[in-house]
Amino acid sequence: MKPLKHPLHRLYSLVPAAILFAVILLLAGCGSSHHKRIVRIGHNQSTNHPTHIALTAFKDYINEHLGDRYMVEVYPSELLGSQTDMVQLTQTGAIDYCIASNAILETFSKNYEIFNLPYLFASTRSYHHAMDDPAVTAPIFTATQKAGFTAVTWLDAGTRNFYTVNKPILSPADLKGLKIRVQQSPTNIEMMRLLGGSATPMGFGDVYTALQSNIIDGAENNEMALTDNGHGDVCKYYSYDMHQMVPDILIGNNAFIESLSEEERAVFEKGYQLVNQIQREEWVKAVSSAREKAAAQQKVEFLYPDQAPFVEACTPLHQSVLSSNPAIRPIYDAIQEYNSQYPTISE
Ligand code: GCU
Repeated sequence: MKPLKHPLHRLYSLVPAAILFAVILLLAGCGSSHHKRIVRIGHNQSTNHPTHIALTAFKDYINEHLGDRYMVEVYPSELLGSQTDMVQLTQTGAIDYCIASNAILETFSKNYEIFNLPYLFASTRSYHHAMDDPAVTAPIFTATQKAGFTAVTWLDAGTRNFYTVNKPILSPADLKGLKIRVQQSPTNIEMMRLLGGSATPMGFGDVYTALQSNIIDGAENNEMALTDNGHGDVCKYYSYDMHQMVPDILIGNNAFIESLSEEERAVFEKGYQLVNQIQREEWVKAVSSAREKAAAQQKVEFLYPDQAPFVEACTPLHQSVLSSNPAIRPIYDAIQEYNSQYPTISE
């Protein structure tokens, strides 16, 4: 994927993340600020992306309010490895925070499965209200305490839709026989199975090359993947089946968070809110310009299939996830209430 094709990208993929991180520390010269604790945050998006813009605001905020003690550094574009690598680095405390898609977090706690369910939210407003409600998010965000990290806020990653190199997807039947990249999550793999396509799980950074070399026939993501990651240079059909709204999650190392004094923690918590607020404002602008650019420059055709057969195919997944983890039932029910309040998908 284009912006991730840093000249060292091939090298990065060969070097285990922990070693890579040690090298980065040496290159960055950790001795440069003896009296300050360096706070490292990793993510996998480009520096144009709303996620990076929001984390840069976080960095400035912390540096402005606690700059005598902390120095925040943001590492974009998988510089610290794939999202899975970064979650592991955050678990061990090798870095302090990272952004992970909710999809990959379900392998760290089953509770995260809920936000990976296709057609869980009836509309964007329902999604936003539910994600802003601590009664919905707290049982999920704190579920990884034992794994060494906690979620501190969520970021919008829009709706996920199928896009393909040369076959328009207008119904689940069109997915038959196609290899579609999905995120590395059992729920996503099962979703693809139910829809009839062939799930090919891989890390985000490998998708562009896999599309270009015909290893896969398509993928599924928000509109930013077309432009910011160059997938629209290869894929010419983008179908709004709107199968998922999978949030991104800012996670922090527990030991680091617990080491903060009460006063510092209050500043960091304001910082997390800032990340959420700025990212969401930037997201709306970024998606609208991604759509314009994909249509005008990359000649991507946007399609609007009937969603009903997609919804119907995916529905059994709700029941199977709920029966295998009954503890998430109250959260599921709370989301259904938001769905009745904000029922229209286009909202
Ligand atoms: C989105 C999301 C990322 C995720 C990616 C993916 O871009 O914001 O966090 O890694 O999808 O499909 O893997």
